[in-house]
Amino acid sequence: MSIVLVTGGAGNVGRQVVVKLAQGGHDVRVFDLPDLDYSFTNAHTNIEVFPGDICEKSDLARASDGIDWAVHLAAIMPPMSEENNELASRINIEGTRSILKALNPAIPIIFASSVATYGVPTAGIVDIDHPQKPIDFYGETKLQNEKDILADSRPFVLLRISGVSVPALLEIPRPWFITANQRIEFVHLADAAQAVVNCVGNEAVPGKILQIAGGQTWQLIGQEYSRAICEAFDFPPESATFQEQPGWTGWYDTNESQRLLQYQNHAFEDFIDQLRALYQEAIS
Ligand SMILES: NC(=O)c1ccc[n+]([C@@H]2O[C@H](COP(=O)([O-])OP(=O)(O)OC[C@H]3O[C@@H](n4cnc5c(N)ncnc54)[C@H](O)[C@@H]3O)[C@@H](O)[C@H]2O)c1
Repeated sequence: MSIVLVTGGAGNVGRQVVVKLAQGGHDVRVFDLPDLDYSFTNAHTNIEVFPGDICEKSDLARASDGIDWAVHLAAIMPPMSEENNELASRINIEGTRSILKALNPAIPIIFASSVATYGVPTAGIVDIDHPQKPIDFYGETKLQNEKDILADSRPFVLLRISGVSVPALLEIPRPWFITANQRIEFVHLADAAQAVVNCVGNEAVPGKILQIAGGQTWQLIGQEYSRAICEAFDFPPESATFQEQPGWTGWYDTNESQRLLQYQNHAFEDFIDQLRALYQEAIS
């Protein structure tokens, strides 16, 4: 078992990654900003919390001393990345550079990149050789991160993760961030986290760029995706509205990631059932 540092470990994906790693017997160091809710770690004696900022050298030095693997999830996401480019640039780009500098060069890094780096897909099924032409600042920062990690000499795994679907009550976005006819393939939160976890200690993945998405049951078009979510929340699907310009969603070739990581455990229908159950519970 290993000592694993997880930056952004108190975020949506991070919390799941941290708990799964701890359940798998690893010693986990959660690195995230101070003043967050770390109570999810209480039940586990093999999780240690390191509050800090990825831009602070001394915080990183303390947290990374003696680790075997680094999982780097800390980032500024949309919409904040688009509203505050300076912050996104400082945390996503400079923060990642400071991690690369702080870690011993032998320590492998598992990095959460994004399919946002492709921009609007031009292929029916996107593979890792698809051109990377981001359409937002967030995608630009992730693309720069990939370049910086590839230029570094340490072992790496780049995970280009698709949109992560969180089973929680949500407001239907108006408009949706896609067109009605656009391809979309998101991934269940638990499966995205499982993919990250299954990289740790996995000798088959260093040096790989892998696409992480839900698999066949998640390959939908915009209005199908919208309809299923609206129906789970008893919201009339015909009231949904869509962007006129396509967003950065598409369908992805996940054959290699699934073969190596075995993470696609939740079908889209399972996700919708979870949403429906949450909604029914909330209104009962
Ligand atoms: N959620 C998605 O749809 C999605 C899709 C593809 C890739 N990703 C990537 O996966 C990673 C995790 O995403 P998430 O959904 O959990 O995001 P999140 O916003 O829930 O978590 C990010 C975490 O980073 C932390 N953080 C921000 N600035 C920091 C700093 N200066 N120092 C230390 N920690 C800091 C935040 O406090 C937060 O807990 C991110 O890198 C994201 O870009 C997410």
